[in-house]
Amino acid sequence: MNTIIRIPIMKALMIQFLACLCMAPLVVLFPSQTIPVWILLQGIAAATISQYAKMAYWWIPIQLIFLPAIVVASTLEISPVWFGVCFLLLFLVYGKTFKTQVPLYLSSSEVTTALASLLPRKKNFTFIDLGCGCGGLLNTLNTLRENGYFYGIEAAPIPFLISRIRTLLNKTNCNVQWGDLWKQNLAHYDVVYAYLSPVPMPTLWEKVCREMQPGSLFISNTFAVPGIAPEKIIRLNDFSGSTLYIWRI
Ligand SMILES: C[S@@+](CC[C@H](N)C(=O)[O-])C[C@H]1O[C@@H](n2cnc3c(N)ncnc32)[C@H](O)[C@@H]1O
Repeated sequence: MNTIIRIPIMKALMIQFLACLCMAPLVVLFPSQTIPVWILLQGIAAATISQYAKMAYWWIPIQLIFLPAIVVASTLEISPVWFGVCFLLLFLVYGKTFKTQVPLYLSSSEVTTALASLLPRKKNFTFIDLGCGCGGLLNTLNTLRENGYFYGIEAAPIPFLISRIRTLLNKTNCNVQWGDLWKQNLAHYDVVYAYLSPVPMPTLWEKVCREMQPGSLFISNTFAVPGIAPEKIIRLNDFSGSTLYIWRI
């Protein structure tokens, strides 16, 4: 039970439920109030509890509009099929986030350029993007640096399909696999790149130390490894203020 509550989406749902419970006595005490007022108050209560429960800041607006958005959507005359289609598409992109706590967001072109300058000069070096999303980074890097082999592994079905089609159409030195990055042996790569989230970084660092060869590079975009000083830090001036943390193994 404790583990389930630690998963942010479960915590968010429980807070929504708690906020509804908080409204119940008020509804009895002030029966003349209208439904929109109660829904708005429930949203405010959910956002306030989330703040106290130390949820990440971006959960607060989601918690605020969750129930109001459901109520408004149910009043619109939209076929349920569309909700089903949207749910399925979102599930095929973000469904695994529930477990991995790593959603899809893409590296900027500034990151790609900086990475290209860090890649080895030697022929046939190997690079892997752990959680390669839609494969944009891999394909661009391969056009910038033709002396390497670029690999990607992705768990989400739709981003994987997009990256697979991209690599097939571009006929590049890229190979994308559908699977779990934790099952990938990092010993085969000269450069390992990760753009994940703060959650997996300590465990990923253990894997890096266990498997990567001496002299290879581990690069993490935005998320540092707690307590492990990188050899080099590159701050970039892109839309998300990306920082590359670089470790020579
Ligand atoms: C922040 S995105 C980065 C996308 C791409 N690497 C880039 O830099 O543009 C992280 C990706 O990692 C994928 N991912 C998360 N956990 C994973 C796992 N255990 N195995 C494979 N892919 C994973 C997610 O589905 C998501 O597409």
